[in-house]
Amino acid sequence: MTIAANASTLRDEIAARLITARERTRGLTDSVDETDLIRQHSPLMSPLVWDLAHVANQEELWLLRSVGGREPMHPEIDPLYDAFEHPRAKRPTLPLLPPAEARGYASDVRGRVLDLLERVSFTTGPLVDRGFVFGMIAQHEQQHDETMLATHQLRDGRPVLAAPPPRPAPADVLRLPAEVLVPGGRFTMGTTSEPWALDNERPAHVIDLPPFYLDTAPVTNAAYAGFIADDGYLDQRLWSPAGWQHRQKAGLTAPLFWEQGGAGQWLRRRFGVTEPVPPAEPVMHVCWYEADAYARWAGRRLPTEAEWEKATRYDPVTGRSRRYPWGDADPAPDQANLGQRYLQPAPASSYPDGAAPSGARQLIGDVWEWTASDFLPYPGFVAYPYKEYSEVFFGPDYKVLRGGAFSTDPIVCRSTFRNWDYPIRRQIFAGFRTARTPDLA
Ligand SMILES: [Fe+2]
Repeated sequence: MTIAANASTLRDEIAARLITARERTRGLTDSVDETDLIRQHSPLMSPLVWDLAHVANQEELWLLRSVGGREPMHPEIDPLYDAFEHPRAKRPTLPLLPPAEARGYASDVRGRVLDLLERVSFTTGPLVDRGFVFGMIAQHEQQHDETMLATHQLRDGRPVLAAPPPRPAPADVLRLPAEVLVPGGRFTMGTTSEPWALDNERPAHVIDLPPFYLDTAPVTNAAYAGFIADDGYLDQRLWSPAGWQHRQKAGLTAPLFWEQGGAGQWLRRRFGVTEPVPPAEPVMHVCWYEADAYARWAGRRLPTEAEWEKATRYDPVTGRSRRYPWGDADPAPDQANLGQRYLQPAPASSYPDGAAPSGARQLIGDVWEWTASDFLPYPGFVAYPYKEYSEVFFGPDYKVLRGGAFSTDPIVCRSTFRNWDYPIRRQIFAGFRTARTPDLA
């Protein structure tokens, strides 16, 4: 996000971002009936009506109470919507606001926030500096919208979402090298200057990396089907010990939502539609353990988070880190598949206009990419504005994902943005690409 310095332009930008997020929330919640809003579609997810009121509750807490100094509107509901008090699986048993009340609460909060925004000065401290906390709340809603989209993907029943297919792959796909070389040396990782960056992306720091090769594009369904056909799921040598244990326990044999269609054809279910798996599309709905096993099968490895960010941002001509692979301007539609414009990733090697200096494509958008790295703080990390945003998740339990997916709004898709999840998670819109260290000559 390019953030305006002028207060009135900043107000307009914030209002536009909040409105965009709310339109998406409405689309995801108005498209299903009351029963579907209240129902839990998977123990992995909250009922959609929980997300709706939770988004409003966080907006009330941070904008109306923390910034505006207002009294709580309904203090009795705060504990219901505290994500740390109730795991997702338990949320349907709570006395949640019914859909009409949840919608009323959300629009009530939003009306008051837009009033407050007219008067806020952005000069009273770090919380409002350059609109940070407003940006945090717009990002929070968009993150929940992506989670709600994953709930839609898990939901049974007739399709309720629709979008055109992405454009076919560009003509140069067959001429592209399979991998690109990223030169060794120092680069700046993370950010200190991005106004709406969250605590875990900070501060900017210099990392020295040896050279490495990275796949030009994310691993495709066709390539992944090759791993399955070669009995990759049955060969223990390809899996980490924890991965093998999980593969057996969970009975993994293919990506989530895939099924055998006969005659060796794979089918998949996508937002209620069953269709042949498109071979050229990046593979999705694989867990970290599957990505790790595939990479070993291919004689490669997952890139580290630092390698991913260097391949995405490092400009070898100037030596500086760009905001995005293509430069410093916010994402344009011909540079990345973001924001749920489509309901699927574009074919691998699409978006030549969004390529990084390394030549790698689709680093931003299409599918989240698993990296080899655990979710850890950068040197000099300071929790802000609350420990539960990132700090409580640091450690070996979570793996880092980068780059956002077709389901991610540009507001949460900086090149420095870090997502994290358990290595067993498959309902998220995650794929991966692989890397290798050059052979010593
Ligand atoms: Fe949340």
